[in-house]
Amino acid sequence: MPHLDHPSSAGFLLRKALFVLRRPKMNRNAVSVSEEYSAGWASYLKYLDQASDLRDWLLIPGVDDEAGFYNGQGKLSWGEFACAEYYRSVLQGLLAKHFPSAQSVTEFGAGVGRNLLYLKEQRPELRAAGYELCAPGVDVARAAAQKFGLDVRYEQLDYLRDPPEKYVLPKADVVFTLFSLEQLPDGVDRAIENILAQATLGAIHIEPVPENYPFGLRGLLGRLDHWKVDYLAGFDRAVRRLRGLQVSVERLESAHNPLMFPSAYVLRKA
Ligand SMILES: C[S@@+](CC[C@H](N)C(=O)[O-])C[C@H]1O[C@@H](n2cnc3c(N)ncnc32)[C@H](O)[C@@H]1O
Repeated sequence: MPHLDHPSSAGFLLRKALFVLRRPKMNRNAVSVSEEYSAGWASYLKYLDQASDLRDWLLIPGVDDEAGFYNGQGKLSWGEFACAEYYRSVLQGLLAKHFPSAQSVTEFGAGVGRNLLYLKEQRPELRAAGYELCAPGVDVARAAAQKFGLDVRYEQLDYLRDPPEKYVLPKADVVFTLFSLEQLPDGVDRAIENILAQATLGAIHIEPVPENYPFGLRGLLGRLDHWKVDYLAGFDRAVRRLRGLQVSVERLESAHNPLMFPSAYVLRKA
């Protein structure tokens, strides 16, 4: 008999499959993304007020450590999974491995800016900055940088639609996205070009790219779910079309979403 705290994986998968099959097809656009995240990020102000130190802010108790089903080393797993910590350590590892000389980074779609505070704390000499679509995200990110005394600059930008004069931050050695391009069912070619134009060495993108999902049950369900929620389309093709880039890709072992198999793309300028 399974322990009550450990729900059955088979039951979960069945319920999830029915949910994905029945859920209506969404239509994601700039307005819906902005509305969704503006409300979400504004609510983080209370967590920032409650955080007594940076660790509490980077891994918010009761928010970032909730037990649930997740993708753990390629297996359907249940429990607490500190996914934010995991993704940040993957990012940091890729930065060290592929761009060891990098002195500056800019995140695009930085949310409330926690990835950058993490990097800045780990490597104080790194110049770090971030752009974010939603004003409440920028406001919370700036307040957090100030609260924890870390020199990270945040600015508001729509990297798909805004004109060149909105790119007010200096170019960085390395630019990156972490689950931000995922919000783009259209226009990914333009977004990558805009983002890459702000880098001297290259880019790192950790994003769900369904073309790279495995062909097992969860991989196939994940592809269907990704399409239903109108997530990122055509990323791999868009990257391969760009000239003068060295591309390397690896699939991550784990993910917060049990139907997600994120990819890490490293784009190095020749
Ligand atoms: C899932 S959140 C990830 C936030 C952050 N990267 C992290 O790892 O915590 C996606 C973020 O991308 C931002 N975003 C989506 N489309 C954007 C765009 N066109 N320009 C700038 N930011 C965008 C959203 O507003 C949201 O804050």
